[in-house]
Amino acid sequence: MHTPEEDARARDAADPGHRHLFLVPPAEGGRYPEVAYLAGNSLGLQPRATREELLADLDAWRRLGVEGHLEAERPWLPYHELLTAPAARLVGARPAETVVMNSLTVNLHLLMVSFYRPAGERTRIVIEDSAFPSDSYAVRSQARFHGLDPDTAVIRLTPRPGEDTLRTQDVLDFLATEGHTVALLLLGGVNYLTGELMDIPAITAAGRAAGAVVGWDLAHAAGNVPLALHDWDVDFAAWCSYKYLNSGPGALGGVFVHERHLGDPALPRFEGWWSTEAASRFEMTPVSRPPATVEAWQISNPPIFAMGPVRTSLELFDSVGMPALRERSLRLTGYLEGLLDEVTADRPLTVVTPREPARRGCQLSVRIGAGSANELTKRLRHEHGVIADAREPDIVRFAPVPLYSTYHDCWRVADALAATVEATR
Ligand SMILES: Cc1ncc(COP(=O)(O)O)c(C=O)c1O
Repeated sequence: MHTPEEDARARDAADPGHRHLFLVPPAEGGRYPEVAYLAGNSLGLQPRATREELLADLDAWRRLGVEGHLEAERPWLPYHELLTAPAARLVGARPAETVVMNSLTVNLHLLMVSFYRPAGERTRIVIEDSAFPSDSYAVRSQARFHGLDPDTAVIRLTPRPGEDTLRTQDVLDFLATEGHTVALLLLGGVNYLTGELMDIPAITAAGRAAGAVVGWDLAHAAGNVPLALHDWDVDFAAWCSYKYLNSGPGALGGVFVHERHLGDPALPRFEGWWSTEAASRFEMTPVSRPPATVEAWQISNPPIFAMGPVRTSLELFDSVGMPALRERSLRLTGYLEGLLDEVTADRPLTVVTPREPARRGCQLSVRIGAGSANELTKRLRHEHGVIADAREPDIVRFAPVPLYSTYHDCWRVADALAATVEATR
């Protein structure tokens, strides 16, 4: 490592981010008081504000019982509406197009009920070969649900031989020849494994021009990169809130359905009492009257104590703003990349994330040429207080998160890798 520790310290002094708003786990031994937390792509850290806000909602229940539905400071009946506008701003949507509900895979299923409608020769679902397994299982089970063979109905796009990431052109070429057979294109906006940011507008436009429905899993994109789902004409999208949105383990996810689909009576949808317009909810009628908003996809009354942390987090994103976060993200990830270049040059380590900043978010994925990713991750944690995560067999992921990560965290990653992985010359 040529870059001295003081260099990272100086950058932190000049570009401190918003770490003071978060609770960083203690290191419990070693040279530094806190861990270097690079796993925000898996589970984001807890904002300091979350605890008080959550306790306030809990207290409303203690004081008001059932009357909290209408009389709590943040009444529970319309509570989800508090999350709608900030979630919409985060993903570049209109409020009618966005709702926070359920968890990610559940939402993907509910959206596929509406948007995966195989017919005639247009029966296939296209995903990337390195799709997160939950998405893979979800689309295969959807194919089976429609009486199709998942081995032929699900197409998995692979990178060119010798390459680690999909090229946009490869997706476009596939659509140009096979688009007429595609019912649904469902890709990850940022790939969970490689950290590649797809060209969402270009792929969406090509997919729609080919006559397919285009949906996006934005688990690794929401809160990581700027999004403009409405303007990009995306048909639907879903994301989780426990990664970059720092809303806690298993936090509620978000859903986007483009305005052009809202209020369409021809779309099949699974419904419950939260799918009907709020004004008619307590009329106790046998037939629903769904609103012409994405709230028509809601089913059950929402878990208020799970919504509080999402609300707190979205307020934070609103106050800092995605453009400023992206700027800092480019600086931090660029810094980590430079440090990794120093370490990987003479070690069996390769960064597989695209080098162009426009083709990635904050995560850099490193392929290890020898040994197990799990073992390396454990050593980074126990010997150096660096928390990253492994995806077996050979990928270790590092995500400097612009809200709370530091340049010093990046330096510690490179320093720990240099100490842990033996140099080859
Ligand atoms: C890309 C992606 N899709 C889906 C999931 C599954 O999410 P959930 O357990 O909230 O359904 C994850 C979880 O990490 C993910 O990274």
